[in-house]
Amino acid sequence: MRIKSLLFLFVLTCLTLQAQQKKQISPDLIGVFFEDINYAADGGLYAELIQNRSFEYNPAERKSWNSFTAWEYVTEGYGYGNISVETSSPVHPNNPHYVVINVEETGLNGIGLKNQGFDGIPVKAGEKYQFSIFLKQLEGISIPINVKLIGKKGTVLGEVSFNSDSKEWKKYQSEITVSETQDSASLLVLAKGKGKIAIDNVSLFPQNTFKNRSNGLRADLAQTIADLKPKFMRFPGGCLVHGDGLGNMYRWKNTIGPVEQRIEQRNIWGYHQTAGLGYFEYFQFCEDMGAKPLPVVPVGVSCQNSGGTWRIGGTGQKGIPQAQMPDYVQEVLDLIEWANGPVSSTWGAKRAEAGHPKSFNLEYIGIGNEDKITPEFKERFKMIYDVVKVKYPHIKVIGTVGPAPDGDDFEQGWKFANQENVPMVDEHYYMKPTWFIANQKRYDTYDRTKSKVYLGEYASQGNTLFNAIAEAAYITSLERNGDVVQLASYAPLLAKAGHTQWNPDMIYFNNTSIYKTPNYYAQQLFSVNHGDSYYQNVIAPVTSRADSTMAYSCVRDSKSGDVVLKLVNCGKTAQKFKIDLSQFKNLGNKAIVSVLSGAAEAKNSFENPNNIAPVISDFKAGKNFSYNVQPISLTVIRVKSTK
Ligand code: AHR
Repeated sequence: MRIKSLLFLFVLTCLTLQAQQKKQISPDLIGVFFEDINYAADGGLYAELIQNRSFEYNPAERKSWNSFTAWEYVTEGYGYGNISVETSSPVHPNNPHYVVINVEETGLNGIGLKNQGFDGIPVKAGEKYQFSIFLKQLEGISIPINVKLIGKKGTVLGEVSFNSDSKEWKKYQSEITVSETQDSASLLVLAKGKGKIAIDNVSLFPQNTFKNRSNGLRADLAQTIADLKPKFMRFPGGCLVHGDGLGNMYRWKNTIGPVEQRIEQRNIWGYHQTAGLGYFEYFQFCEDMGAKPLPVVPVGVSCQNSGGTWRIGGTGQKGIPQAQMPDYVQEVLDLIEWANGPVSSTWGAKRAEAGHPKSFNLEYIGIGNEDKITPEFKERFKMIYDVVKVKYPHIKVIGTVGPAPDGDDFEQGWKFANQENVPMVDEHYYMKPTWFIANQKRYDTYDRTKSKVYLGEYASQGNTLFNAIAEAAYITSLERNGDVVQLASYAPLLAKAGHTQWNPDMIYFNNTSIYKTPNYYAQQLFSVNHGDSYYQNVIAPVTSRADSTMAYSCVRDSKSGDVVLKLVNCGKTAQKFKIDLSQFKNLGNKAIVSVLSGAAEAKNSFENPNNIAPVISDFKAGKNFSYNVQPISLTVIRVKSTK
């Protein structure tokens, strides 16, 4: 009897130990953070090639900007007349400015407008471009319109001609095939008949957008993001969400429907936002990548830094007046209905109208971004959260805890979230690489019964390999704590050369090229090699100097059955790890090893985009083996299942 109970106790202890050594972790851990910062949307991911297409640029955005920014009045063949900007009878009141061309004499080529695009219009030989324009004949009879893409030396690269034929606003669309590759073409729109014609919403898209979507995304850039295989995408920001003053908040309803009816506005980062890349396009992109959508809506207060020296017209943190809050709360509920509701619902019908009758399966929603935790904030957060959790109990609401890993807003934000039982909070920090190496134990002691964590924005301050390796070491700690850290996204994602407000970023691009930083590769190696359970007792450093410069994790992906080992060495000498895979069933010895390594200060650039990139090779893994990892490196060993 005694022996029996001892045996029972022994088995129980073994099982408990084993259970402690294995735990379920979030399957959604690694995602991406998209913010329209650094020209990430207009002039970036959004494939529109015409800048200021609807003449809405204005001096409140930049002192030197107006309706003609990026446009030029052209009278090349001795024609004459005049042009003016008008607002009396627009295509849509949300898009008030348009241009009127009054042709008095057509000359040889007519008169019109030339657009320079965003730093030029890049075109490729043999490819098709979708041109569209809204026209309204104001005086005279039908006017012949000639549209040309021209190269730097005036060569015509492709053109199309048609006649205006309506006294009301009408959309004309044509395809232009380009004969020659040019990085910096311009688009000419010429009126070749006497009379007065109004023009608006001049648009040119490559036919080859990501997944061939209309009003789509730049294919190469979108593919670079999709190659990260993110489990979720957060959008549209960042500070962009809560805006520079109350009137500048990102309001999702302004960004859906026909593009010419969307409300354009000043971007908090100091440029223009057409909202052409709006909520429908964000959700569609998520679906196309297989990532869960994670929209973040304002909590009903503006950014506390509104009106800083580099921002115009802001007011500090201001709350939406109480009388308007019920409507605002409804706006958030409408978003959930728009994303998930049946086509018979008011907002589900609008999603269907836009071409997506099926639900977008929204699961997460962020409420607020880095807001100062004030009574105004708390009051408004509660108003929204209390209603969302009752009406949509399955939606995981994510609260906000300030812009830093500690401090007043962090503490107050956490206190408030725990008090309100908010399912998850959004932590942000941009720190030195050494901070990431030193703070790998941060989440080990987080209370598992409290709100979970979305590490919504983080980056070590730089784009060297050392930065990426420090981040990799930290991500092993996120995997180890994947029961409390549910989601994590590096920030910011994109930056356009010459238009970068924030460094470092993950992906740099110009009109024709892209380079991935070492930080990108670190993210990618974790994302494509994610798992849903974590194992404690598989890897052990061999050296006596097992300090925080050595980091490691072991996960298993239940779908494939593969076991993935990540070994990180932030130090200057090679290190050895011992691996014991004996506990795993259905595991062969076939493995794939990916190594990201090099000189600590090495970077990628437009000139040398592949200076740092993972090197992939095959490997034979035994049940027990040791592995030597190079200095400043991340090694990922994926041991294949035999299932
Ligand atoms: O990622 C850039 C900015 O950093 C975000 O807009 C903001 O949330 C944070 O301060």
